[in-house]
Amino acid sequence: MKAVIPAAGFGTRFLPATKAQPKEMLPVYDKPTIQYVVEEAVASGIDDILIITGRNKRAIEDHFDRTLELESALKNSGKDRYLKQIVDISDLANIYFIRQKEQRGLGDAILCAKNFVGGEAFAVLLGDTITIGSPPCTKQLMDIYDDRKGTVIAVEKVAPEKIPHYGIIKGRKTDSTYEIDDLVEKPSPEEAPSDLGIIGRYVLTPQIFDHLECVSPGFGNEIQLTDALKLLRDEQAIFAYEFKGKRYDIGTKLDWLKSSLEIALGNDEIKDELTEYLKNLL
Ligand code: G1P
Repeated sequence: MKAVIPAAGFGTRFLPATKAQPKEMLPVYDKPTIQYVVEEAVASGIDDILIITGRNKRAIEDHFDRTLELESALKNSGKDRYLKQIVDISDLANIYFIRQKEQRGLGDAILCAKNFVGGEAFAVLLGDTITIGSPPCTKQLMDIYDDRKGTVIAVEKVAPEKIPHYGIIKGRKTDSTYEIDDLVEKPSPEEAPSDLGIIGRYVLTPQIFDHLECVSPGFGNEIQLTDALKLLRDEQAIFAYEFKGKRYDIGTKLDWLKSSLEIALGNDEIKDELTEYLKNLL
């Protein structure tokens, strides 16, 4: 299976930090956000990854490229540990890039992947969302896809006040999954058909492209993936899955802080000092 990582959005919610750098490059502890996302795809067994970028996103391409000058400087000064780290990044997977020319929404960004994907099912991982899980969230969805042979969307229960930030599904529980009856992009809490929010991990069947090509602009006057999924649902069963693990939306400041702290607390190098610091802070 191939993976598509949309990373073309403006990062408005994280201004001014994202004025001159992509939100996907915001560091979480010691790595940029998008590296966690690529690592999730790789840990799920995926080798071919398309990252959809836009203007002002060149730092993402640079991050996954070789940096020969830096490599030789590190080699000459005997900094082997750092050398290995940066060479490993460029060897992570076969990473391809395409630019979305105009910001017309998530659905339009995914449509840019049509030729790359070909006629197979593919995974989508939003570039500003980190998940922690074992197996990784994307692998959990791929396993469900193998079983159901249909589109699968990872969801999570969201608090009522957060509902207007998400695509919300309405589904009927069947074993470990929900069969989806309806999807609404960013409804008000009163209109929401449930509290199950779409978290930014999908396995999609290629028929989604037919719907992305003709769906009308929706919420925010953008081409919404959620609206195309609603059309897809009229022709084939689609499923939602409450994935096992944790998710951080790096586009929000609190989630970004939490993710850095929690990942750092799992790191032996600074865990003890950080714990001590946090205890004394409050
Ligand atoms: C997108 C999707 C939405 C989903 C969300 C998860 O919205 O359109 O359905 O719930 O990602 O982060 P965005 O956050 O890009 O506005």
